[in-house]
Amino acid sequence: MSDTSHGKNATFTLTDNRDGKAYELPVMDASVGPSVIDVRKLYAETDCFTYDPGFTSTGSCESKITYIDGDAGILLYRGIPIQDLAEHSDFMEVCYLLLYGELPTGQQKGKFEKDITYHTMLHEQIANFFRGFRRDAHPMAVMCGVVGALSAFYHDSTDINDPHHRMIASYRLIAKMPTIAAWAYKYALGQPFIYPRNELSFAENFLHMMYATPCEEYKVSPVLSRAMDRILTLHADHEQNASTSTVRLAGSSGANPFACISAGIASLWGPAHGGANEAVLTMLGEIGHKDNINEYIKKAKDKDDPFRLMGFGHRVYKNMDPRANVMRDSCHEVLEELGIKDEPLLDLAMELERIALEDEYFVSRKLFPNVDFYSGIIFKAMGIPTSMFTVLFAVARTVGWVAQWNEMVEDPSQKIGRPRQLYTGYTERPYVPIDKR
Ligand code: SDX
Repeated sequence: MSDTSHGKNATFTLTDNRDGKAYELPVMDASVGPSVIDVRKLYAETDCFTYDPGFTSTGSCESKITYIDGDAGILLYRGIPIQDLAEHSDFMEVCYLLLYGELPTGQQKGKFEKDITYHTMLHEQIANFFRGFRRDAHPMAVMCGVVGALSAFYHDSTDINDPHHRMIASYRLIAKMPTIAAWAYKYALGQPFIYPRNELSFAENFLHMMYATPCEEYKVSPVLSRAMDRILTLHADHEQNASTSTVRLAGSSGANPFACISAGIASLWGPAHGGANEAVLTMLGEIGHKDNINEYIKKAKDKDDPFRLMGFGHRVYKNMDPRANVMRDSCHEVLEELGIKDEPLLDLAMELERIALEDEYFVSRKLFPNVDFYSGIIFKAMGIPTSMFTVLFAVARTVGWVAQWNEMVEDPSQKIGRPRQLYTGYTERPYVPIDKR
């Protein structure tokens, strides 16, 4: 296969060595990053599928929302570097940016925040769903169930072809996720649900619903709410990761947005994806002390051992995940501001990072800490239980999921997602009656 030219009407020539036939495949150029070879007509012309399990070299869609340069460790939301947004912006502004493509004016931001705030309450009957779960249910299981059930309550925002319905459903999902997350936590504790308060910011409201009780005034710590707001920004979107691709594929059939986001939550739960932040804390607890690090590094390198160094490696980043850098800096800040002098888990994590980044196995495979490596340590310092870590990831990622879902629905070239396969099973054979087997 050769690349005949760059720019307009560029093509790749694909030669079939079985019969010498050559095929011209159009190249589509990106505004930044890799071009794509348009293979939409390949099967019709060559009677062959492409084959790319895990989609390591496959673009599933055209998008204008988020861009990652994995080699350079760059992450842009609508072109703006994540570091700048983490430092200068806030989560509501980032939600507006991801949904609408531009940073809001003061007036736009004020209206958006008010619109989101007025969707934070849940229909009173939804509280009954929580009571159907065991108290020790994993909060991600509760979140999957309750978010999926929202489609049974909000029939006035499930027509995906109506832009107004899509906007209302998107706002409802962004606004209600913190309430659902906090209520899942309260239900596990056996404490009463705390209702959202409209005078609080998004992050303050979430912390208030998590930690307040009806018995006394709860003051949200500005340190914790600022840290929470920044963590939500860092986790908001990330191109076509597994859970976002799940949302897009579910949405491509015309399924309602609540069902699509519930599917995304299920995918995020996996330890190879959003479940890694919980798995990192479990791993650090297992390692226990710096003296044991080398034994676990050995396990991580052993092909016969399923153990992986959780919080390390990434399909796209072959450099430090820029979010991990911001997260590590926040870690130090939050621990210091909370007066936590020496957090043994942080010391252990930093020693693990130092040793791994000097080890040839990790260096040669470009395995760096990712966003999940430090997030769990901050969450623990903020008093958030390990089982809630991925729930927080889902609260943050909901804006990315709905932004990508809207982009998919609005894409004129969008079709139902229906991959093909390489079939290597039996060719046709006769049915054998049971008395002849
Ligand atoms: C997230 O996609 C996204 O954008 C996700 C995310 C988002 O914001 O949405 O960034 C969030 O999911 C971050 C990733 C969180 N997961 C973990 O921390 C779990 C540990 N990491 C691994 O499971 C793994 O690195 C993945 C799943 C993240 C990436 O897997 P890939 O791209 O399929 O890489 P691979 O399995 O092909 O690994 C390449 C090599 C292999 O060794 P060889 O076969 O070449 O000898 O690296 C090794 C792997 O065995 N390897 C690891 C490792 N990760 C990869 N070895 C030890 N420990 C690890 N963590």
